[in-house]
Amino acid sequence: MTDPLEQLRDDALREIDSASDEQALEAARVKYLGKSGSISAWGERMRTLGKDEKPIVGKLLNEVRNAVTAALESRAASFRSRKESEALVRIDVSLPGSPHEIGALHPLTQMWQRSIEIFRRMGFALADGPDIEDEWHCFDALNTPPEHPARTEQDTFYLPDGRLLRTHTSTVQIRTMESTPPPIRVISPGAAYRNEEIDATHAAQFHQIEGLYVDENVSVADLKGALEFFMRELFGSGTEVRFRPHFFPFTEPSLEVYVRSKALKGGEQWIEVAGSGVVHPAVFEQVNKARGDKAYDPEKWSGYAFGLGMDRLAMILFDIPDLRLFTQNDLRFLRQFA
Ligand code: PHE
Repeated sequence: MTDPLEQLRDDALREIDSASDEQALEAARVKYLGKSGSISAWGERMRTLGKDEKPIVGKLLNEVRNAVTAALESRAASFRSRKESEALVRIDVSLPGSPHEIGALHPLTQMWQRSIEIFRRMGFALADGPDIEDEWHCFDALNTPPEHPARTEQDTFYLPDGRLLRTHTSTVQIRTMESTPPPIRVISPGAAYRNEEIDATHAAQFHQIEGLYVDENVSVADLKGALEFFMRELFGSGTEVRFRPHFFPFTEPSLEVYVRSKALKGGEQWIEVAGSGVVHPAVFEQVNKARGDKAYDPEKWSGYAFGLGMDRLAMILFDIPDLRLFTQNDLRFLRQFA
């Protein structure tokens, strides 16, 4: 009873071994293992066998099925690897390759990374807020009344639903204070938008780093110290920093920040790089109202804030004459910073 099975196995293995292509191999598979293949037929026949024969034949049948299956698989694998090596032979390894261009960070990104690194050393953490804002976070909470010119359509991009593209990153001051009680020491890099006449120094989208420090007894001296340290780290120790009185609704006093450095191109000139000031008590009051508590008690807490013009800083540091170059994606420009 076992002889014919062994015969069947030998035939199958021989046929598989001599299959010359994948089609022949498939034919052999169907012939032996297919639904009406001869090995499957033996499975049917098992039922008719007597008690003594069943285990012996069954064991052998399993072995035969396994051997044939393994042979089919290994033959298929050898066809596959033959195909692959045929494909590889056609590749001419002596041809010159097509080189990958190595990318580099955009000059503004480099500027951001340098700045963030300096502020981190001073203990500032990163904060974030949305580019699409509501009027309250952009203006009202920052003590900017409805009649303020910054709120007109000539100055600001409004969405049909009344929201707007934030005109400065100072919105993040509010969002941070809403979610976190004092003390606070954060910076927030991001884009800001204004409805500007576009030229070499004005764009509809520009970039800022906002800073906010709230603690007990924070003064203008702390603000000046932090910004002087930052500018000297960025532009070199010989950099001069000047503060001039200004007006922002959300700080009092308010100061514009100028730098001058012999190491920079046009080193005799004072260049305005930031707005800053001591946080106005009215801003704390707005935040308290939104929070529903007295966490930012202006009698107890004080703070400073600043908004650094990132594009401006990058233009000074890298000696870039036109702001529009940042967004034109001209590789001849970008490659210079790789
Ligand atoms: N938000 C102001 C601007 O964009 C800059 C600023 C930030 C001023 C923080 C004071 C404090 O012009």
